[in-house]
Amino acid sequence: MSGVDDRSVTVRVPAKVNVQLAVGGARPDGFHDLANVFLAVSLFDEVTVTPAARLTVTCAGPDAHQVPLDPTNLAARAATLLAERHGIAPDVHIHIAKDIPVAGGMAGGSADGAAALLACDALWGLRSTRAALLADCAELGSDVPFSLVGGAALGTGRGEQLTELPVGGNFHWVFAAADGGLSTPAVYGEFDRLNEGVRVPEPQASDALLDALRSGDPTALAGALSNDLQPAALSLRPSLRSTLDLGMSAGALAALVSGSGPTTAFLAKNAEAATEVAEALRTSGTCRTARVATSPAPGATIV
Ligand code: C5P
Repeated sequence: MSGVDDRSVTVRVPAKVNVQLAVGGARPDGFHDLANVFLAVSLFDEVTVTPAARLTVTCAGPDAHQVPLDPTNLAARAATLLAERHGIAPDVHIHIAKDIPVAGGMAGGSADGAAALLACDALWGLRSTRAALLADCAELGSDVPFSLVGGAALGTGRGEQLTELPVGGNFHWVFAAADGGLSTPAVYGEFDRLNEGVRVPEPQASDALLDALRSGDPTALAGALSNDLQPAALSLRPSLRSTLDLGMSAGALAALVSGSGPTTAFLAKNAEAATEVAEALRTSGTCRTARVATSPAPGATIV
C-alpha cells in the first residue's frame, strides 16, 4: 500500500468520577433523568487510528485482556458511526493504549469512544463541528460526550446534555477497582426496585457541590459528594462497603461509589494523603488495584 498508511492520529482521553449523581424516576424510554456532575481525572487512555484494509481493534495495558476487540467496542462503534454519516468505509486500525482501569464507573469505554471519534474525524479530514461530534458522542452513550469535553460539567437529560463548570483547584483522588463488573442497566434496575412506591424527586444539581468545586476546597467537596446509585450498587455488591470503610479509616475525606460502580472513589486532602489511602487499599485485599489521580483533567485531545 502507499505511504498514506503511515498516517496516524493519536488522541489522549481522561477517565471520570461522578461527584454528584442525582437520579430521577424511570422515563418511558427506559433511561433516567439525571443531574450528573462529572469531573475528569488524570488517568488517560491513548487511542491511535491508522488507515488499514478493514476495521480492527487492538489493546495494550495491564487490563487489556478484559477489553472486547469486536464491533461492540465503543471505539469501533464510534469509527463506524462517523464513517456511515459521511458515506465512507471505516477502514482503520484502532489501537487503545489502556491505562484507565477496566472497571465499571470510570467511563473507560466511553473515553475510548470519544477518542476514536475525534481521531477518525482528524484522520479522514472531516472537520466535523464540535456540536456534531457531541451529538455523535451522545448517540454512542450517555457518558461519551463528557469524555470529549473533560474538565467538569453538569450532565442533564440522560447525562448527555452538558454545561461546563468552573473548578477552583486541584483535587486528589484514589480509585479502587473491584474484581468483576456491575452491569449499569442492572444497577439502574436495582435503583428502581429500591425506590418502588417512592416519589423520586426531580434530579437537581446541588448548590453546595457546585460551590465546593468552584472553591477548590477538598473538605467542602467531601461534604457535598453524593451518588443516588450507591445504595443500588451496594445492594448488588455488599462487599464494596468494606472497601469504602477501609479507605475512610486510612484517612480519606470521603468515599463513594463512582457512577454505577463497582469502582470506588476516595477524596484525599492532598497528594500525600492520597498515596497513603492507595497503599492501604492495595494491601487490604478489599480491591483489585488502587490508583491515585488528580482532577480536573482536560478532555479528549489530539497529541
Ligand atoms: O447510555 P448508556 O449506554 O451508557 O446507558 C447504559 C444503560 O444505563 C442504559 O441502557 C440504561 O439502562 C441505563 N441508564 C439509565 N439512565 C441514564 C443513563 C443510563 O437508565 N441516564
